[in-house]
Amino acid sequence: MALKTGPRRAAYWASALTIGAAAVLTVASPASAAPADVAGGKLDWGFKASFRNYVKSGNGNPPIGASNGASIDTDGTFDFPATGGTFDAAAGTATVNYGGTVVFSYPAHFFTITIANPTVVVDTDGTGTLFADVDLTGMAEQHLDQAEVATLAVTNPAVDGGTITWTNLAATLTDTGASAFNGFYAGGTQLDPLTASASSSTTTPEEPEEPGNPGQPGGGSATQQITAAVTGGALTLTTSGTSVALSAATPGATATGALNAVTVSDLRGTNAGWDLVGQATDFTSTTGGVIPADNLGWTPTATVVSSGLQAANGVTAAVTPGAPAAPGSGLGSSRALCSADAGSSLGSSTCGAALSLGVPESSAAGSSYAAVLTLTLA
Ligand code: HEM
Repeated sequence: MALKTGPRRAAYWASALTIGAAAVLTVASPASAAPADVAGGKLDWGFKASFRNYVKSGNGNPPIGASNGASIDTDGTFDFPATGGTFDAAAGTATVNYGGTVVFSYPAHFFTITIANPTVVVDTDGTGTLFADVDLTGMAEQHLDQAEVATLAVTNPAVDGGTITWTNLAATLTDTGASAFNGFYAGGTQLDPLTASASSSTTTPEEPEEPGNPGQPGGGSATQQITAAVTGGALTLTTSGTSVALSAATPGATATGALNAVTVSDLRGTNAGWDLVGQATDFTSTTGGVIPADNLGWTPTATVVSSGLQAANGVTAAVTPGAPAAPGSGLGSSRALCSADAGSSLGSSTCGAALSLGVPESSAAGSSYAAVLTLTLA
């Protein structure tokens, strides 16, 4: 089958696997006068659940990312919004292009695979094909440009007004598609089923009414599609202060204080999780005294900062404080201050800790001791 591709093609990053496609949707029977332009719709596809799980278990940062309009659903599959194409319900043909990029990154296994711009094509003979841009980089290279990456087992679409939806079409990897997976998949491998929809604003062309034209009935309705590109932000760490003065203590007693509040904002849009750890240097005095860092203990606290907004995609943020560490077996080693698991790390959290320094009886008195606590977010 020849690919009917749209004009939309772009250079994608060298390190990603891109799937792009223009889709032709063939509609079996509904009567409609003329080909309609695609004005909306989306492709919901997870590529292959076992591949997502494999990559997710790796060390990518993030392992799986979506950009250029694509997004990751809470179930881990991807949404690619329709960007163009046409369908003709009467002729039973259609072409729909979907946009967006999904990147699978697995540095420890030396590969990045990008799938972008999928195109679903359903022909008059009922055959269906998925085209895409697919790029493999790393220990092996393959670049597919709107290639026929999967065949689709087409079933009757649902037609509802100006919207056509194919639900759960079985998808099978082609030999061409398999060539981007460096021998780990063969042609014929079963992929996740895909659900593709396309809607048109022009299925019932109407003459625009002249406003205020006498004799025309009043009223009417109009729709507007609102879109907003949500691009990935950063994972950041801010702290409300840079120094902490503990209470004075005598040898054998405990000096106490509180860590300045630390705010972690995860605005990457990937929900990939994060860890904030801390480790201190030994305390040293101007007169040469040393108190080992392990004598600094802490009791971490952590709270999610509410933005006041309703959560997107049903995702709620959660943060977990690290385990308390007692003076004597404290911050000479790296210890968790707080962390957020993958799946619930979006948004901002504030972490803090009550600090207690056990001052050994053997300490030399008479001068001030200082140490540096380093917090690392990853
Ligand atoms: C171009 C490089 C590579 C590509 C494209 C690639 C791709 C894949 C794919 C598609 C799978 C099957 C996932 C599934 O559906 O279950 C897989 C599995 C696997 N790969 Fe890779 N891989 C690459 C490099 C590596 C390297 C370098 C290693 C070893 C260091 C490795 C170790 C594994 C292992 C152990 C599995 C089985 C995982 C499991 O079943 O849980 N791969 N790989």
